[in-house]
Amino acid sequence: PEAITVQELSKRMGEKGADLVKSLFNMGSMVTVNQTIDQDTAELLVEEFGHRIQRVSESDVEIDTEADVDPEETLKPRPPVVTIMGHVDHGKTSLLDALRGTDVVAGEAGGITQHIGAYQVKMKNGDKVTFLDTPGHEAFTSMRSRGANVTDIVILVVAADDGLMPQTIEAINHTKAAEVPMIVAINKIDKEGADPTQVRTRLLEHEVIVEEMSGDVQDVEVSALKKTNLDELMEKIHLQAELLELKARPDRAAEAIVVEAKLDKGRGPVATVLVQRGTLKRGDVFVVGSQTGKVRAMIDDKGAQPKEAGPSVPVEVLGLSGVPSAGDKLTVVENEARAREVAAYRAEQEKLQRTTQAPTSLENMFSAAA
Ligand code: GTP
Ligand code: MG
Repeated sequence: PEAITVQELSKRMGEKGADLVKSLFNMGSMVTVNQTIDQDTAELLVEEFGHRIQRVSESDVEIDTEADVDPEETLKPRPPVVTIMGHVDHGKTSLLDALRGTDVVAGEAGGITQHIGAYQVKMKNGDKVTFLDTPGHEAFTSMRSRGANVTDIVILVVAADDGLMPQTIEAINHTKAAEVPMIVAINKIDKEGADPTQVRTRLLEHEVIVEEMSGDVQDVEVSALKKTNLDELMEKIHLQAELLELKARPDRAAEAIVVEAKLDKGRGPVATVLVQRGTLKRGDVFVVGSQTGKVRAMIDDKGAQPKEAGPSVPVEVLGLSGVPSAGDKLTVVENEARAREVAAYRAEQEKLQRTTQAPTSLENMFSAAA
């Protein structure tokens, strides 16, 4: 039950405080302009003056309610979202390239991944897999810390000639904390000095027991360079995905998560989003974080401009009011007025959180959660 001072209410109504006090007196309450009245009384008063009540309560603007679950019968199978993690230079991008049959590495500045690429690969049986290539673990961490768990499966890439390195261990810990199943891809087996057995043994120290060691974590020896055992890897992804029975409702207003956003010189604010449920359509009005927008165009990983994007589909979205953050939720709403209302509410919430929470680094949040 919210209370408001007579003064504040009079301001919002654009009426004189004294008139409100008089009216309240007629209704049987003796109050001064500085005193507070409860919500019911305030509403009565508003009606009394012939104003329309526009209650902006939390449930009105908070559209991310937990209870908002799609009924089982509306769910359809969706592709798995696979995040590729591992130590620097262990071949994450090369592996993804090999899987895509294209070559992104050649186009990257210095061969280091500068952004999160999001791609869909079609398997031989026609099923699709969505891949996220991460520049490090920050994106994964920051999305997770904001409650956006977009990943269904993690592929841990370990170079067989280099073995377990600090970021490999970091990736293992993040994956465990997120409770996401892992598939180990032991890469660069074509190289001299490659020692896959050593990798498997060292993984034991971190409680990752692969199949070869009679555990239940799938592992596969690959070479991104020579394209060795890629079918096996895809098969393992497929197997793991089947166990997860991933589903989402396609026929509803879309919800998506931002995996990357930037200000593009020519195109304005651009966000790469991953649709979680529903279908995002050209012309849809949305809120994303505390920004608003209207889908002007969508661009997929092949450069095409689809009119629609369903669950697990990654697309670049154009038509935003500003640049959102990775991990922000994009929600399609009925109209622009509603979008602005929700965006304003979210901005307010963000401000509140900033002022009430002590600054915590992401690393701290992880060690606390683990
Ligand atoms: P970052 O994005 O910088 O973390 O690196 P990454 O893990 O994406 O590695 P990337 O794919 O850029 O590969 C790093 C280097 O390893 C490149 O020079 C690749 O050509 C090489 N490489 C990747 N896979 C293989 C492989 O299977 N065999 C051999 N011999 N070299 C590989
Ligand atoms: Mg890379």
